[in-house]
Amino acid sequence: MPSPSTTPDRELFSEERSAEVVAASFAGTADPRLQTVLTSLVRHLHDFVKDVELTEDEWGAAIGFLTATGQACTPTRQEFILLSDVLGLSMLVETVNHRTGGTATESTVLGPFHMVDSPVRELGDDIALDGKGVSCLVSGQVTGPDGDPLAGATVDVWQTNEDGFYDVQQPDVQPAGNLRGLFTADDEGRFWFRSVVPRYYPIPDDGPVGRLLAATGRHPYRPAHLHVIAAAVGHRPVTTHVFVADSPYLDSDAVFGVKESLVREVPEVDDAARAAQVGLANPFRTLTFDLSLLRD
Ligand code: BEZ
Ligand code: FE
Repeated sequence: MPSPSTTPDRELFSEERSAEVVAASFAGTADPRLQTVLTSLVRHLHDFVKDVELTEDEWGAAIGFLTATGQACTPTRQEFILLSDVLGLSMLVETVNHRTGGTATESTVLGPFHMVDSPVRELGDDIALDGKGVSCLVSGQVTGPDGDPLAGATVDVWQTNEDGFYDVQQPDVQPAGNLRGLFTADDEGRFWFRSVVPRYYPIPDDGPVGRLLAATGRHPYRPAHLHVIAAAVGHRPVTTHVFVADSPYLDSDAVFGVKESLVREVPEVDDAARAAQVGLANPFRTLTFDLSLLRD
């Protein structure tokens, strides 16, 4: 039995100090931020295991679930981001990184269906290429934080069709570029285009994330929304949605993306002259969404 004075100067793994022992193994990490993130991650994971007294079967099931999540990923499907979405992590990261203090349009999740090269459109164009849905005039103004109009701002939009699918999910069914477009605002920062009233739809639920939703009694639906990325020189771009006020699922979005400030009514306009002016059949619906960007 060694005397205390000859006890080696080392700390081996123990239940009580498990996180500290593992954190010490990161002492040689060259990147200080990586060390901070890993240390915190390990602390929270170890706390979690102790909190629920995780069984070996549960640990095995978790590994199996994460493996299946990875295996469900393809070049066109990112099941890990979907997992992050339904756990509210994507929204939390988005919110923490884009605090506005109430001074600008709030952001929400990008989602997996944005096209980097959105089809370039002219103001007034009709983006509903499949002829389905309830016609809607979408318009708004992009301004800076003081209400100054941002001439030439870009407004990138995308939404599902009436059947609840994005064009990229149905390449053999929908025309390419259906219900998406990249617009350039006019000299007053105003934009307008023809589309259809957005529809609610389910996120992809035929994989491990869908099984998680089912196991927890959750539905896979997102409330009706139009995605928008607005950008202007000298300002921070915003990635957001506008939600339809009377849509189902506003209070139970599968990915927690709804913010009250982003919900809008979509009233009907019954005005034959106005309908002819904008190129829609009378009556039609209108969705107005002004966006305010913070300065860089
Ligand atoms: C979307 O709104 O397009 C979306 C967001 C998160 C997960 C799936 C879809
Ligand atoms: Fe969406």
